[in-house]
Amino acid sequence: MDLKLNNKSALVCGSTQGIGKATAIALAEEGVRVTLLARDEEKLKQVISELPQQRSHDYLVADFTKPDQLKERINSYIDDNQGFHILINNTGGPKSGLLHSAELEEFKNAFQMHVICNQILVQACLSFMKEESFGRIINVISTSVKEPIPGLGVSNTIRNAVANWAKTLSGELGQFGITVNNVLPGFTDTARLDQIIKVKAEREGTSEAKMTEIMQNYVPAKRFARPQETANAITFLASEAAAYINGINLPVDGGRTKSL
Ligand SMILES: NC(=O)c1ccc[n+]([C@@H]2O[C@H](COP(=O)([O-])OP(=O)(O)OC[C@H]3O[C@@H](n4cnc5c(N)ncnc54)[C@H](OP(=O)(O)O)[C@@H]3O)[C@@H](O)[C@H]2O)c1
Repeated sequence: MDLKLNNKSALVCGSTQGIGKATAIALAEEGVRVTLLARDEEKLKQVISELPQQRSHDYLVADFTKPDQLKERINSYIDDNQGFHILINNTGGPKSGLLHSAELEEFKNAFQMHVICNQILVQACLSFMKEESFGRIINVISTSVKEPIPGLGVSNTIRNAVANWAKTLSGELGQFGITVNNVLPGFTDTARLDQIIKVKAEREGTSEAKMTEIMQNYVPAKRFARPQETANAITFLASEAAAYINGINLPVDGGRTKSL
């Protein structure tokens, strides 16, 4: 299938590692001109050097805990360059922990990083997408949109806010050739998952190896996802071929989620 992505540009957030990095690579392999966004400039430069080089790629340093800084940097970047056809909203997940003992500040931080920053990025990207009559806004969320995950209280709460924000936007923007979809990763082999396994193992008094085995056994596929597998789903949703898919939650979880 020709994904017809080779004249497109993308902003891929949270792209120095994990799912974001794999997505940047997958899009670049399809000929997309990629702009990476994250906090760590050295890692951003390293990822740029790893991307297929048919197009000239770029990066932007910004911190989602500082929405004013993000807004200023993304707007001035778009003023100095072209806008983006594809926006991948992705960043680090909220701290794990039980909901009843979560600090109020954790909710504020998570809302800021996951809802406010997504809104800033969409508003910055919208006019170019409308001019091009083509836009793909893809939000990397979590299967907790469908089933809360024990021990990820703040995350469970905020993920649904993002999902409903996205669903509402999809209804508003479809008329401009812009789709808004959510990808819900299951257990995916990244630094984020390593951290979750460590915390769960400590809490339950077991080893990380045992916890890994327990978690893999929850999954019908009996393994964790490779970040590239999540990136493949994102790349398809970003393509021309996915033009009529709008406002969905797509789990990429090896069948782990028990609800449809
Ligand atoms: N892995 C899983 O099993 C899994 C499952 C369900 C949902 N998810 C969710 O999917 C998303 C991506 O997961 P992942 O496993 O790829 O995460 P990850 O390995 O922790 O990578 C997170 C990325 O976000 C960037 N980032 C973190 N904090 C940032 C900030 N304040 N400002 C800007 N960029 C920031 C990091 O780069 P810098 O440090 O350079 O800024 C990094 O590139 C997360 O929201 C995660 O919770 C993951």
